[in-house]
Amino acid sequence: MLGKKKKIHRKKGVNVNGTFIPTSVVRHSSPGHEMNTMSERLYIGIDLGTYQSTVMSSEGVMTTIETVVGKPKDPVARNFLGRDVVFGEDAIKHRLACNLFRPLEHGVAQDDEENLSAAKAFVTHLIENCDPEEYDEVLGVICSPSHISFTDKTNLVSILRGLVNGIMVVSEPFAVAFGLDQIAGSIVVDIGAGTTDIARIYGTFPTDDDQVTIEEAGDWLDHRLMNLINKKYAGAQLTQSMVRRWKEEGSYVGDDSHEFMVDLSVDGKKQNVDIGDLVRLACNELVPHIVEGVKNIVAGADPEYQSVLRNNIILAGGGSLIGGLADRVAQHLADIGDVTVWCAEDPVVRVADGALKLAGAMPDEMYTSIE
Ligand SMILES: Nc1ncnc2c1ncn2[C@@H]1O[C@H](COP(=O)(O)OP(=O)(O)OP(=O)(O)O)[C@@H](O)[C@H]1O
Ligand SMILES: [Mg+2]
Repeated sequence: MLGKKKKIHRKKGVNVNGTFIPTSVVRHSSPGHEMNTMSERLYIGIDLGTYQSTVMSSEGVMTTIETVVGKPKDPVARNFLGRDVVFGEDAIKHRLACNLFRPLEHGVAQDDEENLSAAKAFVTHLIENCDPEEYDEVLGVICSPSHISFTDKTNLVSILRGLVNGIMVVSEPFAVAFGLDQIAGSIVVDIGAGTTDIARIYGTFPTDDDQVTIEEAGDWLDHRLMNLINKKYAGAQLTQSMVRRWKEEGSYVGDDSHEFMVDLSVDGKKQNVDIGDLVRLACNELVPHIVEGVKNIVAGADPEYQSVLRNNIILAGGGSLIGGLADRVAQHLADIGDVTVWCAEDPVVRVADGALKLAGAMPDEMYTSIE
């Protein structure tokens, strides 16, 4: 049971000879039953993303927050903000008064004390949105970025200890396929910010051999676009968040350029310029990387399954919102035979949604107790 306050009206129990015994006591007094379904249980699905994270609960909570933590730079900033730590949008808004941490970003040392404490604060904040203290038991299915290695999984457990009672860690593509009811045979391409994860799914948990991870994803695209703009408009003053915003508004692939006007500051002077051709170029460059990854995943599959897999390629993650992407990927895959490529709806929450569905569907023995 979580060591936090519980609401009185939710208190559950049984009457034994006129004495009220709370369910939680009953649970702990029954030997061999670490996780009793009699008690009030909350399931949560968590997608810890490089750029943004989502939590969904079996009670209908759904929250997406940018994976960024701000800690006030000094006592003045602390006073002004009125808090020791701020998250997501708040952290971005007050970035000049804060030290910012992106604790799950690619390349961040996971054993760095400050990042670890920022990650813990962030995950705590995310889970608190689901009011875990109101439940006897909280079971979570977690998807974390694929660059988080085995030692970092130990960190993940230490981060979640005290917040949830049991966890199961699954890969992002598997969660996507499970949530969409496509585990019988599919290839999931999860185009996130830090990485693109491509996995073949055929009815069971994928192994490491069933998945490839490539670095070409949203952040890579931002940098490509930034370079292209800098080349064309020497002296342009750019930040990744400006470029990301433009990309999200105007992203597309194809053979013809569309106009896409933006305000650019060049050596301090405002200019209104068309970057439509550059957005197209950068987005087009992502396609061969995805195509190569998918081809490898198909080629490594049992030959009798290859046709099924080729005909159910699912694009998810924020990067799948690039206009025209599914068609272009399909065109570039045409040389391996008939293919079907489609985009998942609401791609950013697909991972957390699948994780939540898994959480409810899996038997207790699949969870690792972290009490
Ligand atoms: N309309 C859009 N066009 C292109 N890219 C987009 C669009 N909307 C969002 N993105 C990009 O999608 C990425 C975020 O996607 P997502 O939330 O799936 O990533 P993440 O889970 O945080 O990252 P990762 O899975 O790598 O840890 C960002 O790079 C964002 O800029
Ligand atoms: Mg992701």
